[in-house]
Amino acid sequence: MGVKLFFYSLGLKQYTSMKKILINILSKAGYTIIRRSKLSFSVGDYQYEQVTPYADYAPWLQDKEFMQIYSRIKGYTLVDIYRCYELWQMVENIHAINPSVSFLEVGVWKGGTSGIIGRKLALLNSTNNFYLADTFSGVVKATEKDAFYKGGEHADTAMEIAEGIIKSVYKNYKILKGIFPNDTASLINTEERFGLCHIDVDVYQSAKDIVDWIWDRMIIGGAIVFDDYGFHTCTGITRYVNEQKGRSDRAVIYNLNGHAIIFKLS
Ligand SMILES: C[S@@+](CC[C@H](N)C(=O)[O-])C[C@H]1O[C@@H](n2cnc3c(N)ncnc32)[C@H](O)[C@@H]1O
Repeated sequence: MGVKLFFYSLGLKQYTSMKKILINILSKAGYTIIRRSKLSFSVGDYQYEQVTPYADYAPWLQDKEFMQIYSRIKGYTLVDIYRCYELWQMVENIHAINPSVSFLEVGVWKGGTSGIIGRKLALLNSTNNFYLADTFSGVVKATEKDAFYKGGEHADTAMEIAEGIIKSVYKNYKILKGIFPNDTASLINTEERFGLCHIDVDVYQSAKDIVDWIWDRMIIGGAIVFDDYGFHTCTGITRYVNEQKGRSDRAVIYNLNGHAIIFKLS
């Protein structure tokens, strides 16, 4: 059955057997039971609990092109369908503001989200540069600002894996292998201007260095999407993005899918 019931943990003993009986009955009737804990907890300076918006409008289900590329790349991404769909929409919106800007993703891993961005660029008949930057040997620049990351995570990939995805969807891609911006930013023409930067690098210092590099190269109305903002495992990204709030040249938004988006205002 397609119906899914969300069963929140009440955390009270007297409800446990009632709950078990109900789950049993519903499971036998063919329902899928999804358990979600609403317990809150803290990591460092931040409070967390499972975020479960009440919204149920799901336009991606009617977007054939999106569903096709998503089903192709879902085994090559750590990013859920909600954040993938947001990237998909962001590319279209940025392209409408300025059809000649370049795109950058730092944190490619096996190329899943690159495939989403690249496929949308192709559908828009774009010929603009799309840069894909990754060490392809794991996370770098972890510091004490990052509660969980130590460095070297997500090394289970290779440039060829990511390239296999992007080259099948978009022609004007360039892979930058190495630490960005330190090793590879010099390969980008100094005149180039960016509309969208997807930062999926997990730690504070990498995110900061990327923004420091790209900010003056971005158009007004351009956006930086931070994949990791809403996750307790990436406290460094939450810290970095929160530090950007209140500055007059940028608007910072927390989308409850986990993304933070910074729009350049001036
Ligand atoms: C979580 S993965 C990216 C996930 C990917 N976007 C997806 O679709 O699942 C993070 C990646 O960031 C890369 N990375 C982190 N810091 C980097 C930096 N400063 N320069 C280049 N790559 C970096 C790591 O090598 C790793 O592959």
